[in-house]
Amino acid sequence: MSFLRFLCLSIFLIIVGCEKFLPPEQSESDVLDGPMEGLSPEQLAIFNRGDEAFGEVFTPATGLGPYYVAASCATCHAGDGKGHPFNNLTRFGKFDTGNAFNQMLNQGGPQLQNRAIVGFVPEVIPSTATGVTELTAPSVTGLGLLEAVSDADLLAMADPNDSNGDGISGRVNWVSPPSFFSPFPFQIPDSSGRYIGRFGKKGAALNLLHQTVGAYKQDMGVTSDFDMEDPINYAVSSQIIDNVPDPEVPASRVQDLVFYLRTLKAPIQRDESNSDVIAGKQLFIDVQCESCHKQSLTSTTTDIATLSNIQFSPYTDLLLHDMGTGLDDGYTEGSASSSEWKTPALWGIGLTKDAQGGNYFLMHDGRARSIEEAILLHGGEAENSKNMYVALTQSEKEQIIQFLESL
Ligand code: HEC
Ligand code: HEC
Repeated sequence: MSFLRFLCLSIFLIIVGCEKFLPPEQSESDVLDGPMEGLSPEQLAIFNRGDEAFGEVFTPATGLGPYYVAASCATCHAGDGKGHPFNNLTRFGKFDTGNAFNQMLNQGGPQLQNRAIVGFVPEVIPSTATGVTELTAPSVTGLGLLEAVSDADLLAMADPNDSNGDGISGRVNWVSPPSFFSPFPFQIPDSSGRYIGRFGKKGAALNLLHQTVGAYKQDMGVTSDFDMEDPINYAVSSQIIDNVPDPEVPASRVQDLVFYLRTLKAPIQRDESNSDVIAGKQLFIDVQCESCHKQSLTSTTTDIATLSNIQFSPYTDLLLHDMGTGLDDGYTEGSASSSEWKTPALWGIGLTKDAQGGNYFLMHDGRARSIEEAILLHGGEAENSKNMYVALTQSEKEQIIQFLESL
């Protein structure tokens, strides 16, 4: 072999050899984060600022605490995906006489801040709390489309008295708005001035700004122009707060973060033409899963063109359903009962374990370690659907799971 041929062959082998060891390039559909298509350069600039705010790690000098749960949004929502139960939030309260739910505000409720900066004492759950719930962070992708579904559409899907007799009712959560809330034109109040909630596990946040302001304050102890009060540990003292001047983040930063959440791309389905995935999707509809996990919603006209009038497949109805005693933690928010939970979107579920350390942690507190376990925990309005799933053959069950993993 001539030296030249030897050299060529060696270079060829090196290239081919390296290819084998390089990680395969990830396509858009394999990752959860990233902006939706069609944003202008100006909008992408806001998106990038919001992305940076989502990853900002707070310190005592920049406003963390004094009482908090984690130091950045991304700690709990890693890669914009679901969180690990290690970072679960805890909320508590009790039912007063007359069945009114008491969030125990004067005892540090409803959210436990289980960490504190140096010199402060973390909160503990008061012994008088009767309802304690743990919540695993959901993924935050595609939420701009869910925010833009009109109240009229949600009310049309709700069936509070089960008038169609399918055993599945579905209600909206009516929530009293915070002072900074400014509704979209398609958000309509009831006669007591309450609005329909759509974010959080019980749908208690009215829009992404409401959710974000709450997260800054309750999860990280960070004040903003929208809420200037640090969380206070009433068990220790009434008014001791940190020394960082309020607001600890300006309104513009909160708004960039909200824009980021609104324009994160919706998860993209993979393998949708695989025959088992197609069969699994039909079975998912046949055994009534789709009665709550709705495959098709349409956004209305909103101030961001790329979010307006789009049909999309989140596999949720954004409604509350009674899920039975097994999932009743004795804790609630807004007009939801303690056994009611908002149907979680299932888009992106096949990618969520990547952010959870390779294993699934599903349902509101992460108690289910596989998709099948999550299905078997369904009760209440979903009891019938679960029983129909249980009665399927093993290969039919596998097709449903394969379909869900493709989402
Ligand atoms: C300590 C962990 C933790 C931190 C920190 C945190 N979150 Fe969350 N996030 C959660 C949990 C748990 C939920 C469900 C809460 C609920 O039911 O109200 C949630 C819910 C959400 C939702 C609603 C998603 C949906 O589908 O309903 C959004 C949006 C969100 N968080 C954004 C943020 C942003 C923005 C920040 C930072 C400002 C943040 N989160 C910080 C744990 C966290
Ligand atoms: C009556 C409405 C309803 C029906 C019917 C229903 N679900 Fe659900 N599903 C929910 C609610 C509500 C939750 C959240 C419960 C919780 O977090 O404790 C949920 C949670 C899940 C989860 C876990 C999602 C996550 O992110 O943690 C999966 C997976 C799931 N459902 C699949 C199914 C399948 C498959 C079927 C059909 C066999 C089905 N569901 C039928 C309402 C329903």
